[in-house]
Amino acid sequence: MSTSPRLAVLGSGKGSNFVALQEAILAGKLNATIALVISDLPDATILTRAKAFGLPTATLPPSPFKTKLGPEGEIALVQLLQDAGIEWVILAGYMRVVKDPLLSTFPNRIINIHPSLLPAFKGLRAWEQALTAGVKETGCTVHFVNKDIDAGEIIAQQRIPVLTEDTPETLHARIQEAEHELFPAALTKVFQK
Ligand code: GAR
Repeated sequence: MSTSPRLAVLGSGKGSNFVALQEAILAGKLNATIALVISDLPDATILTRAKAFGLPTATLPPSPFKTKLGPEGEIALVQLLQDAGIEWVILAGYMRVVKDPLLSTFPNRIINIHPSLLPAFKGLRAWEQALTAGVKETGCTVHFVNKDIDAGEIIAQQRIPVLTEDTPETLHARIQEAEHELFPAALTKVFQK
């Protein structure tokens, strides 16, 4: 492995976690290089934000499926990653299930952030699931990705109280503040091993 791990960041949304990672790198807090930012959605804000940092971006070909890429898309993704010399695949709001050949090409090298205290509230809109369940606290989790959804080995977690006045938006915003601290810290821990 190179002294500065080469990362690809994959995201489908606004990319605030990507920004937190890139800012941690620029501040010298995270020893890594984001060599490629990839989205499955050509209009995703994460791509605009990556370009603003001067980072290379790529968009995946459209998929016939909503929740996964499909075999051809996965093969195209692996090719992109290999061509860019990527060592670690970082999922930052990437809203598709990861399958083979991506999993088998990067064993224990794919890391995700999820907006709950896993194993609680897997899947979509986890902060809303937490509110509906009426729990007193939730949080965020950084974990390795395996073939089971949101079930890989946990690297780090941060707890967040749920307030009585919380709406889905306020709760997610507080979880995201915690994510922006937790994600770079968790990656630092992994890359130091
Ligand atoms: C984050 O809160 C992340 O935890 C969540 O999507 C958001 C992306 O925000 N991911 C999942 O729900 C994955 N199941 P961002 O685009 O601003 O980083």
